[in-house]
Amino acid sequence: MNNSQKKVLVFDFGAQYGQLIARRIRDLGVYSEIVPCDLTADEVKQMSPSALVFSGGPASVYADDAPSIDPAVLELGIPILGFCYGHQIIAHTLGGKVGHTDKGEYGPASLHVKPSVLFEGTPDTQTVWMSHRDAVVEVPAGFRVVASTDVCEIAAMENVEKKIFTTQFHPEVKHTECGNQILGTFLFKVCGLEKTWSIDNLAETLIEDIRKKVGDSRVILGLSGGVDSSVVAALLSKAIGKQLICVFVNHGLLRKNEPEEVEDVFSRQFNVDFIHVHAEKRYLDLLKGVSDPEQKRKIIGTQFWKEFFAVAKEKSADGTPIKFLAQGTIYPDIIESGARKTGGKASTIKSHHNLIPFPDGVSFDLIEPLDHFFKDEVRSLGTSLGLPNSIVYRQPFPGPGLAIRIIGDIDEEKLRILKDADAIVREELNDYNDRLFEETGDIHSEHSCWQYFAVLPDIKSVGVMGDERTYERPVIVRAVESSDAMTADWAKLPHDVLARISSRIVAEVPGLNRVCYDITSKPPATIEWE
Ligand code: XMP
Repeated sequence: MNNSQKKVLVFDFGAQYGQLIARRIRDLGVYSEIVPCDLTADEVKQMSPSALVFSGGPASVYADDAPSIDPAVLELGIPILGFCYGHQIIAHTLGGKVGHTDKGEYGPASLHVKPSVLFEGTPDTQTVWMSHRDAVVEVPAGFRVVASTDVCEIAAMENVEKKIFTTQFHPEVKHTECGNQILGTFLFKVCGLEKTWSIDNLAETLIEDIRKKVGDSRVILGLSGGVDSSVVAALLSKAIGKQLICVFVNHGLLRKNEPEEVEDVFSRQFNVDFIHVHAEKRYLDLLKGVSDPEQKRKIIGTQFWKEFFAVAKEKSADGTPIKFLAQGTIYPDIIESGARKTGGKASTIKSHHNLIPFPDGVSFDLIEPLDHFFKDEVRSLGTSLGLPNSIVYRQPFPGPGLAIRIIGDIDEEKLRILKDADAIVREELNDYNDRLFEETGDIHSEHSCWQYFAVLPDIKSVGVMGDERTYERPVIVRAVESSDAMTADWAKLPHDVLARISSRIVAEVPGLNRVCYDITSKPPATIEWE
C-alpha cells in the first residue's frame, strides 16, 4: 500500500477474529492494517498511522506471557481506541487496575452510557457484545468512566485530552447495536479522517506498483484458475503484458473436469503465455501413505515451489533468469497461517500452501498484490478489472485441493470417488443458487451457498442395496454461507435439495452407501475438514 494512504493500525493482541476490526474500518471507507502488538513507539511513528486500534485477546494482563505494549506508544499523541484486552492493557499500563470478576460476562449485555465523545448520538441504553472475565476496576488518572453494565462498572472509559477511548465490549461484532456508529465517531470525529478507501480505484495503483517492481523482467504466476490468482493474472497482464508466464500446476487433486476448464478459460480469454504442468504422478507418489493434514499441506506446498522453479529454470534457458513469482495470496491466508506478515499472536489454524518456506535450492522474489485484501474485496477488484462473473464468483477452492478433503491417506480410488460425488454436489447446488438468483435477482442472496463440496472420511459403514449387504464409504456434504471465509454458517438447504443430492450420490457413485450433511458453523469448525 502506498505511504500517502491514511491508515489505521490494528494492534493484534491475539484475537482470532481481530481482522474483523480491520474489515469494519475498511467498510467505513478508511484503510486499515493489522500489526503485531509489540511494535515500538519508533516503529509506529515510521508507519505514520492516523489512528491505532487495540484488539481483544485471550490473555489476562497478569498472565506471565501476557502481551504487553511499549508504554511510549500511548504518549505519541495518535488517537487510540481499545477493545476488551485492548481496554484492559491500556488501563493497566497507565496505572489503573484490572481485576478478576466473580461472574464473567459473555454474549449480549445492556449498556448504560453517559454523555461522552464516543457515544455521541447513540441511545442511553444499548445492546453490546461482551466476552470477558477480567475487568478494569479502577481507571487511570485523567480517564472518565462513560458506560457500564449491571456486571461491569467500567465498560468504557475515555480521556478526551489524550484522545484515548476504550471499551470492554466489542464494537466490531455485528451484535453490538451501535458498533459501526461508535467506530465512525472515532474515525471521523475524533481522528478527523475522511472516507478515502475504496477498492474501486485501486487497480491502477496496484498495476503501477507491479510495473515499478518488475521493470522489464519476466514473472511466473502460479495460476490455479480460482478468483485470487485470476485477479492477479488480470493485474499482471495489464501491468506487464507478455512478460507474464502463467503456470498451472495440475497436481491431480483438482475437481472433476477442472484442469480442462482452466486451460480453456486462460488460453482462450487471456492473451497470456499459459503452461499446463502435468504433475499428477509426482504428487500422488509424494502423498502415498501420508495422513496428517499439516504434513499433506507442507508436501503439496513444497512441491508447488519446486514445480514453479523448474519452469522458471527452463524458461530462463535463454540466459535471463526469472526471479519473480507471483501468487494470489490474500489477507486471511496470512492471518490463518500464523500471521506471517502481521506478526500477530493469533495461533496457527492451517498452513496455507502458498505460505510455507522455500525448500533448499529454490528462491524467488514474491509478488503478492492481494496480500492485504479480503475475499470480497478481491472479488470487487476482479469485477473492476473486467473479469467475467463466472471467474469472480467462483467458489473458493483450496490450493492443496482434494488432498485436504480426503481424510487420511490418498489413493486413486478415493480420488475417483470424491471427484464424482463432489461433481454431483456442485451440480445440484449450482442449480439451487441459480434458482435463488432468479427468484431474488441478487447474486449475493443471503441464503445462496458460498462454498459447497464433498468430503471423504476414512471410515466405512454397513448398508443394504438391492437386498445385498454393503460395507462402503460415506460421503459428507459441506455447504456454507459466508462472505469472507473468516466466519461461516452451514447452509439451511431445503430438504428436497438435500434428498436429491443424497439419492443421486448413492445411485451414481460406486463405493459410497451413505450421505451425511455437516451442520457446524465456523467457528467452532472450519470450512474445510483439514
Ligand atoms: P477454512 O477451512 O480454514 O478455510 O475455514 C477458509 C477458506 O480458505 C480455503 N482454504 C485454503 N485456500 N490454500 C488455499 O488457497 C489452503 O491451504 C486453504 N485451506 C483452506 C477454504 O476452502 C475456505 O474457502
